Amino acid sequence: MRAIRGQAVSLRGNPFLSEDCLDHVADALILMEDGRVTAFGPYAQLVGMVPAGVDVVAYENALILPGLIDTHVHYPQLQMIASYGEQLLAWLDKYTFPAELEFADAAHAETVAKLFFREILGAGTTTAVVYCTVHPGSVEAFFAESERFKTRMIAGKVLMDRNAPAALLDTAQRGYDESKALIARWHGRGRQHYCVTPRFAPSCTEAQLDAAGALLREHDDLFLQTHLCENTDEIAWVRELFPERKSYLDVYAHAGLVGPRSVLGHAIHMSEADFCTCHSSGAALAHCPTSNGFLGSGLFRLFDALDPKRPVRVGLGTDVGAGTTLSLLKTLGEAYKVAALRGTKLDAVRAFWLATLGGAEALRLDDRIGRIAPGHDADLCVLDLAATPLLGFRTGTCSSIEELLFVLMTLGDHRTVRATWVAGECVYDNRRPGDPLRY
Ligand code: GUN
Ligand code: ZN
Repeated sequence: MRAIRGQAVSLRGNPFLSEDCLDHVADALILMEDGRVTAFGPYAQLVGMVPAGVDVVAYENALILPGLIDTHVHYPQLQMIASYGEQLLAWLDKYTFPAELEFADAAHAETVAKLFFREILGAGTTTAVVYCTVHPGSVEAFFAESERFKTRMIAGKVLMDRNAPAALLDTAQRGYDESKALIARWHGRGRQHYCVTPRFAPSCTEAQLDAAGALLREHDDLFLQTHLCENTDEIAWVRELFPERKSYLDVYAHAGLVGPRSVLGHAIHMSEADFCTCHSSGAALAHCPTSNGFLGSGLFRLFDALDPKRPVRVGLGTDVGAGTTLSLLKTLGEAYKVAALRGTKLDAVRAFWLATLGGAEALRLDDRIGRIAPGHDADLCVLDLAATPLLGFRTGTCSSIEELLFVLMTLGDHRTVRATWVAGECVYDNRRPGDPLRY
């Protein structure tokens, strides 16, 4: 058994749809066993449950949260994050495809996968929905590293059979066969989940999209990820490539790719009919504010997506390497600014819901992750309220948990993460001498 003590917060409902969703315990005890939380509540009430010989790890001036969930990120793009001057389609040609070509080398994939886990665990992210590259070896390297940490991860081999350099293309049949082999090897192994990953409509023929749909029909509980309505030139191109479809989303729906466990990245330029289709099919959207700003793609309509009349499931995505950080705290700060530019206000409770339980609901894993609650996976992140002199000074003036959360999402980054726990074990501690993940 492991036991930790400190101030803690967790969401128990969707604050876009109902009031009073925040559990806040000023001095909490969290007990963990076999990878799960077994008890969570006020220290004074639960301390008697700690068996003799079990040390309680106490976090002072800290805030314990459920592990953060990144619903859209490309691990192979770490090496070209921060690439200057292009919008989506030119950015893909100039920077992304050349970087992804290097993943033909399995040793390179392993190096980048290791760096990725170090970065996300250091940022408090414990689950992510991840694009690998077209190379099966890139998936192998990713899941092998995830298995080492016992993280719950959702990832898959990119499917693309046109409009990219020849060495990055598969075919509909080869993409199907390679995905099927990876599903057999990784889907449901420990905490790993497979995600069928057609890159986006312009890089897939209709035959390839249909093959992706066949994979989804042939296996239980697979995820599906792709990109949707990110950039206006991209949307015009999809219209040319698929003139017989009613909309960009309809290209995917026609192939059977829009349903529960589908995660559609960006979804900036959406019609009301598109939102209705996502609502009724149960598909989720990944809001990627740093990426959408960096590539000049547009402003996601968060409050329209979550309209209580027909709420669509929404999670938060970093979308590195178009996104500019793997920190979901920084990403929340940017989501606030996007909401402000649209004339709306993203309060901290809704924001932290997006990064935790909202992400879990988007992935239909809310019975496992996204909350601190008995029976849920013991994935936690611990924030240091005085990680920097300024943060300590500012958090010292906060008079409510809502204000504290808002300061953390506005000023927080990697430095703010004191520790990360995965499946009941501390995998990162920024004060532990020699911690291999420490900077
Ligand atoms: N659309 C297709 N591929 C990509 C990608 O790698 N990143 C982003 N942001 N959009 C895409
Ligand atoms: Zn993306």
